[in-house]
Amino acid sequence: MRDFELNLTPEQESKKQYEYMEKAKELVSIKEKELGRKLTFSVVTFGCQMNARDSEKLVGILTEMGYVEVEDEHADFVMYNTCTVRENADNKVWGRLGYLQSYKKKNPHMIIGLCGCMMQEPGVVEKLKKSYKHVNLIFGTHNIYKFAELVYRCLSSNKQIIDVWKENDKIVEDLPIKRKFKFKSGVNIMFGCNNFCSYCIVPYVRGREKSREPKDIIREIEGLVADGVCEVMLLGQNVNSYGKNLDNPMSFANLLREVNKIEGLKRIRFMTSHPKDLSDDLILAMKECDKVCGHMHLPLQSGSSRILKVMNRHYDKEKYLDIVRKLREAIPDIAITTDIIVGFPGETEEDFEETLNVVKEVEYDSAFTFIYSKRTGTPAATMDNQVPHDVIKDRFNRLLKVVQEISAKKAKSLEGKVVPVLVEGLNEHDDSLVTGRLENNLVVHFKGTEDMIGQIYNVKLEESKGFYFLGGIV
Ligand code: 5AD
Ligand code: SF4
Repeated sequence: MRDFELNLTPEQESKKQYEYMEKAKELVSIKEKELGRKLTFSVVTFGCQMNARDSEKLVGILTEMGYVEVEDEHADFVMYNTCTVRENADNKVWGRLGYLQSYKKKNPHMIIGLCGCMMQEPGVVEKLKKSYKHVNLIFGTHNIYKFAELVYRCLSSNKQIIDVWKENDKIVEDLPIKRKFKFKSGVNIMFGCNNFCSYCIVPYVRGREKSREPKDIIREIEGLVADGVCEVMLLGQNVNSYGKNLDNPMSFANLLREVNKIEGLKRIRFMTSHPKDLSDDLILAMKECDKVCGHMHLPLQSGSSRILKVMNRHYDKEKYLDIVRKLREAIPDIAITTDIIVGFPGETEEDFEETLNVVKEVEYDSAFTFIYSKRTGTPAATMDNQVPHDVIKDRFNRLLKVVQEISAKKAKSLEGKVVPVLVEGLNEHDDSLVTGRLENNLVVHFKGTEDMIGQIYNVKLEESKGFYFLGGIV
């Protein structure tokens, strides 16, 4: 059955999924009549922007079937879209599943589904099969486009449906998506990762790199713009290696140039850039393209060249600092943010101090700091020089302090400046104010009205409050 299905073209696959949506819709409508009310769903997302985008696909399909979205997990259909990048992401899911089990006892018709990265990890499916029989549907990262079909199978049988694939190179376009935000959207430009950083589980659970065709990306963004989107975030595990394996290869820099031409689009962001593949041409493209935000998220992971080598990152401290220098030379106001891991196996006090030194030298606008988490199956998990937890905790706190001081200082230095701000919504506490976002991702609150949402204004940053500003329209 599977082999035959794998031979469908992406277009045939997409068509088939729409047929399943129709079939599921009928079953949902029968159940609605039985209960005398609409059926509800909740999609709970763990992890990164990729997962957030995938969840919008799940929401799109469930909505198409007639389900109505609700905020909490007391719903007829609950989907957990899981992450497994660090152990605590897994733990959260196990905890939530335990809680839902008792809720389901009182509401036996409820459907619980699990998908995403954690499902691709060895042992997880076995554990679910054995001890979490109340879970109805389990699938992974490679066949999310089959969601409609899997839901249909779930609705028409009482069995636990499990469909986790090891690999897949098919990209199925044009399935329904329901965005969380009206005026901004993530856009996948590629899936998977080929880098195998020695601590990271992503390449094992998301598979090898595959890029979407430029024409499909452009078409999607044009459609989004027509639907009111003014900001896109181009998503990939390593956007800098975009397009290498396409029949007609295209660099990420050139993709940016193409996206920049889209009329009506106002802002372009992207995530994530691996320093090893960051080209001079990308820096040039960022400088040339007026819609590309002056922001670069550039994961450092460690400031020690020795550790970077063991992490299999393919750059050293000098190369990293050189990229930062070039970025600032080309785009003087650019905001630079990063990811840092503390306590990678074998990290000494000297290595850690090198990280601190890079943080002080670069002066990041903000940084995500992570405690190293051992992921089974990665090379780092079997290294015998794991750093004791109390040492890691101490380093982590020291790093956090430096990062926060620098972020506050950087924000303070923007006081008095006039910057372009995209209005995202009314202020949650005071509806005489609107909340907008700077190119560097910080927010500013200022006097405004609802009709300003989705527009860009020049705003004077009057006062920095650390993580946000108070300002006024110029
Ligand atoms: N432990 C801690 N942090 C990790 N990351 C990836 N794998 C691990 C791990 N095993 C971090 C990296 C990456 C970010 C998304 O998550 O910093 O850039
Ligand atoms: Fe993980 Fe490295 Fe790939 Fe990023 S580039 S997803 S850290 S393996």
